Amino acid sequence: MSLADIQADLKELVTTKNCGPILIRLSWHDAGVYSTGKLTGGCPNAAMRFTDAGEGTFGANAGLPTVALSLLQPITDKYVTTGVISHADLWTLAANVAIETMGGPTIPTRFGRSDAKSSAESVESQVGRLPDGDKGIDHLRDIFHPKGFTDKDIVALSGAHTVGRCHADRSGFDGPWTEQPLSFDNSYFTEMLNKEYVDETTAQGCPQKKHAGTGTVMLISDLALLEQPFREYVELYAKDQGVFFEDFTKAWVKLQENGCEGLRETL
Ligand code: HEM
Repeated sequence: MSLADIQADLKELVTTKNCGPILIRLSWHDAGVYSTGKLTGGCPNAAMRFTDAGEGTFGANAGLPTVALSLLQPITDKYVTTGVISHADLWTLAANVAIETMGGPTIPTRFGRSDAKSSAESVESQVGRLPDGDKGIDHLRDIFHPKGFTDKDIVALSGAHTVGRCHADRSGFDGPWTEQPLSFDNSYFTEMLNKEYVDETTAQGCPQKKHAGTGTVMLISDLALLEQPFREYVELYAKDQGVFFEDFTKAWVKLQENGCEGLRETL
């Protein structure tokens, strides 16, 4: 069983179930707990698959251990259970196949991530590691700078919200960011610059911004990017999708590899 077989199965899953966005979020939240500074550790290790404690129970991960992992289950049975690939590498690859299948850049994937053996290998808490959607720039910097990201990287990475949506029963926010939430393009940036948003509180009590005409939404953390120095990158990516894809790819690969040692080019 080769890498091409796994990629083909993932592509079919993404196409038939339209589940690319949640697969991207699965990889992001597995890798995104990594931090340096006051908090340490948190490399991508698929700890979220344990739901007795730890990352699988974090509120920020709502929907991932249930919905995302059920979708991946047949592919997990075929390739992880038989020892071809680790869970953590499969989650990384699934996100990258999803990005490309939805029209985004081709992301290089390296392999060799080790899987957590129990929830004890989770990080202690989501606090300070995963971002909240109802906060602004200081919070984004507090979360992303200790992972080794610049202000520009924060804008490029946030561009992943060009796909997918918020689910009332998961995060409490509600609605898609863009009018074509299954196309990985630069419309997150063009829409953010061109639309007028009004304040709204969801039925779950979460504050968000809504575009009345189309029903698309932005989180407070998304619209915070309209402040300088972030805004110059929003404008750049809105003008030039190629530059967005290039900068996204660099930051995203760094995110997926943060804290990993000895990764290899081949399966
Ligand atoms: C910058 C700070 C960020 C905040 C505050 C944030 C917050 C959120 C929230 C609240 C949701 C909705 C979850 C749900 O209800 O299902 C979400 C979804 C999503 N996020 Fe983020 N996120 C951030 C950064 C990122 C990054 C860095 C990526 C990847 C590079 C990403 C990719 C996604 C995707 C693809 C979805 C859609 C999932 C789906 O449709 O099921 N986000 N994010």
